[in-house]
Amino acid sequence: MDRYAVIGNPVAHSLSPRIHGLFAKQAGQALVYEQLLAPLDGFPDAAERFFREGGSGLNVTVPFKAQAAAWVTELDHSAAAARAVNTIALSRPGGTRETAADVSVDTLQPDVAAAGDHRLRTVGFNTDGAGLVRDLTINHELNLGGKRILVLGAGGAVQGVLRPLIAELPIELCIANRTAEKARLLALALKQEALGAEAGVRVTGLGLDELNGGFDIVISGSSAGLSGDRASVPAPVVRGAFCYDMIYGARTDFCRWAEVNGARQVADGIGMLVEQAALAFEIWRGVAPETAPVLRLLRQERTSQR
Ligand code: ATR
Repeated sequence: MDRYAVIGNPVAHSLSPRIHGLFAKQAGQALVYEQLLAPLDGFPDAAERFFREGGSGLNVTVPFKAQAAAWVTELDHSAAAARAVNTIALSRPGGTRETAADVSVDTLQPDVAAAGDHRLRTVGFNTDGAGLVRDLTINHELNLGGKRILVLGAGGAVQGVLRPLIAELPIELCIANRTAEKARLLALALKQEALGAEAGVRVTGLGLDELNGGFDIVISGSSAGLSGDRASVPAPVVRGAFCYDMIYGARTDFCRWAEVNGARQVADGIGMLVEQAALAFEIWRGVAPETAPVLRLLRQERTSQR
């Protein structure tokens, strides 16, 4: 049976096995999806072993997304610019993907085969950004076009979603971070790529303390979880805005803080999680799962657990 896993550290909390299990059931496909805890310095070995032993695909979570981008043999455009990978599939020349058990030397490029090269051929994708956009636009029915969007944070999680957000053509995309320099550098890189420039998307990067209000949508991609840390984001920033936490949880600190400070609506990242998983499932299995029933079920389950 085809084997998949989410690799991370820690990984025990991951909902991915549950989500992919539900997708597989929906599609009538039999597969195994496990959690793979890799040592902090052991991503390449663990990933290599997984595929050598017949694994078909990996999801990658913290802290390995950047390492995964360096490890795969090819990067899909979704992962190339962000240099972060959350989904790995096996590949072969011609673009078809298959399980390691099927990869024989003669399916590799002739020069590689002649050299007796048995390296794994893998492709890295990043479905986080597209997953976030799908959650915002489909599940939350937001139109991002022409909106003023603020993204809090400038780490790996944020880098994975900036380009898909710009592709929705907001009027402004502001990146604000505790370390202002990182936000400025990210904004500069996006400007150099001239993304959205033709459509007049204004991209800015600044420090949290330089923020003013006036945003339609505020997305938190910061790993700061404690309410004390929120003190550095001026409260008026979220007033009247749709506030979204890329972290999932029934009531995350950011969502609670935003609600108290006058957000129009708050949402956690459970929908993004389900949507990025659906895109990964489609890459591996060629079938696009229906996400709404899965999302409904996960929300029901966590309500009944409270
Ligand atoms: P991830 O892969 O989850 O994005 P990361 O790359 O370490 O993790 O990035 C963490 C992000 O959360 C950064 O933007 C970080 O801000 P700095 O660049 O200033 O470090 C932000 N962050 C973490 N702790 C924070 C805190 N206490 N207050 C504000 N921002 C915080």
